[in-house]
Amino acid sequence: EHVDPTALTRLSKDANHLGPSYNNTAKLYSNSWTFNKTLSNLIRKNILRFLDPERDISILKGTLKPGDIIHYVFDRHSTTNISQNLYRLLPTVSPMKNQHHRRCAIVGNSGILLNSSCGSEIDSHDFVIRCNLAPVEEYYRDVGWRTNLVTMNPSVVQRAFQDLVSEEWRDRFLKRLQSLSGSVLWIPAFMAKGGEERVEWALRLILLHTVDVRTAFPSLRLLHAVRGYWLTNNVHIKRPTTGLLMYTMATRFCEEIHLYGFWPFPLDPQGKPVKYHYYDTLKYEYTSSSSPHTMPLEFRTLSALHRQGALQLHTGSCD
Ligand code: CTP
Repeated sequence: EHVDPTALTRLSKDANHLGPSYNNTAKLYSNSWTFNKTLSNLIRKNILRFLDPERDISILKGTLKPGDIIHYVFDRHSTTNISQNLYRLLPTVSPMKNQHHRRCAIVGNSGILLNSSCGSEIDSHDFVIRCNLAPVEEYYRDVGWRTNLVTMNPSVVQRAFQDLVSEEWRDRFLKRLQSLSGSVLWIPAFMAKGGEERVEWALRLILLHTVDVRTAFPSLRLLHAVRGYWLTNNVHIKRPTTGLLMYTMATRFCEEIHLYGFWPFPLDPQGKPVKYHYYDTLKYEYTSSSSPHTMPLEFRTLSALHRQGALQLHTGSCD
């Protein structure tokens, strides 16, 4: 194991030039993987020049008061106010303060997880991060159930819980929140306009039912900082996905990072169809037409890091 000063340059080359050739990709993963601690330390150090994940993971109570006006990160001309409920649920210290874990799993939501039997392997990590309140109960064999941190884009309330239109959906949503007991619930409330009400409903339920979650609301600078880090490494990502945000932040808290459920392609390495999400019927067109994400580019970047031993991407079965 050695530090390769060209590693990150090569990373951007790989990311930009490696096509998503499935056979090619399949070959990459059959190789054995060894953790490159030196490179992983270097990446952590470089990321810390752009952001401090311990701080940027959440706005703290002392820095705002109810009624304060916030400009959305992506919709600079639209504003929202800090509600009483949001203020009450702002943490007083970083929910990740002094947290250091040896092995972390970040679970993306790709259908590649279905029939993977990766559940117990995922759960064996010291810290498990999940995205967008993805369901676990019905899929625990493939995705596990332990959750230390889970994200919730406001749009999830609409997409996965029908905007809480009925008692039944409100109940389902509440149950999902209650099942998180003790974990961090990370809500990017100030990224894009339009989610204000949905965030408010969630916060009201949490307060009303004293749901045992530790809420966190990312700092307004997080996104720019993450984008800045990747740009500096020549990875031109306009709007990092939740998955990439989680990886970038996790470098601060985790020694070894393992990614599951990252596969933004409609076919698996053997050419079989893969669902966009393991749990719903969203289609790939969803990303290409309406989403500003560049998931395949992110994936190639992560693959390059995998090959260099900085992280491990798990895309196969865990049997
Ligand atoms: N992901 C992936 N391949 C897929 C679906 C998801 O690699 N087919 C990864 C992405 O990094 C994504 C994360 O898993 O950010 C969580 O999935 P999802 O909930 O679909 O995230 P997004 O809808 O992309 O949410 P956001 O718009 O906040 O990124």
